[in-house]
Amino acid sequence: MTAKKVVIIGASSGMGYALAQIYLSQGCHTALLARTIAPMQALANHFPALPHYVHQLDVCQPALVNKVLTEVTHNLGSIDLLIHCAGYGEVNPHLDFAVEEGMIETNVKGFTAVVDWTFQYFLQQQKGHLAVITSVAGLHGDRHAPGYFASKAYQISYLQALHHRARKSQLPIFITDIRPGFVDTKPIEGKRFWMCSAETAARYIFRAIERRKRIAYITPRWKWVALAIKLVPDALYEKIM
Ligand SMILES: NC(=O)c1ccc[n+]([C@@H]2O[C@H](COP(=O)([O-])OP(=O)(O)OC[C@H]3O[C@@H](n4cnc5c(N)ncnc54)[C@H](OP(=O)(O)O)[C@@H]3O)[C@@H](O)[C@H]2O)c1
Repeated sequence: MTAKKVVIIGASSGMGYALAQIYLSQGCHTALLARTIAPMQALANHFPALPHYVHQLDVCQPALVNKVLTEVTHNLGSIDLLIHCAGYGEVNPHLDFAVEEGMIETNVKGFTAVVDWTFQYFLQQQKGHLAVITSVAGLHGDRHAPGYFASKAYQISYLQALHHRARKSQLPIFITDIRPGFVDTKPIEGKRFWMCSAETAARYIFRAIERRKRIAYITPRWKWVALAIKLVPDALYEKIM
């Protein structure tokens, strides 16, 4: 059987790094991308026998996204699975525009550049699997981090649209929307409700991707929080939160 060819964007830390460990240990031919190369290179060095590629990429530069992904495809030969983990989130209670702009650049502009390139590539290849880490945060606006929650809602809606396009194309193109609750990575240090480690999250994400799930809550019990968010009337939500 030929090895799966996997691209992970945002593989230098957090869930992307933990996923890179899993895919490399599964023997997949892997390309790891982010702005910081050193941790990805160090990880890939543990698997010297496997074909792997480490590239620097800032997703906020769309021309670079196209160039690097084209180069990566050439190196790997093709792409079976692209996992987009790159993201940026901060609370911003004072609506500092520079903070909002950073999240829009990464989570909206950068995300769109990556998923548009990938979807077009999969259409051309007539198959493929795109998985993106969005968030439970995308299900309702939040007064502490309006830009972050809104950018995640954008991602969720965009993936819904791509899934619809994939179904209409009748091609085996799969879209997986991964929605974590709290994961113990840099953006939210300290103990939080139902928080898991990046490694635990990555194990659940891997399983969801292998099952080609359309939507996966991480950890799975976060689906109950998602359900509550959808069912609770706005007036009650505003009182509690
Ligand atoms: N942690 C949580 O509780 C949580 C919950 C729900 C959803 N999420 C989402 O999960 C995703 C992964 O986050 P994480 O928690 O694993 O955090 P993380 O450790 O900060 O990882 C973020 C990754 O994105 C990369 N990245 C950021 N900006 C980039 C850019 N402009 N170009 C290329 N790569 C970029 C970072 O690499 P470089 O800085 O080296 O470029 C890093 O590899 C994010 O979308 C986040 O919003 C996190």
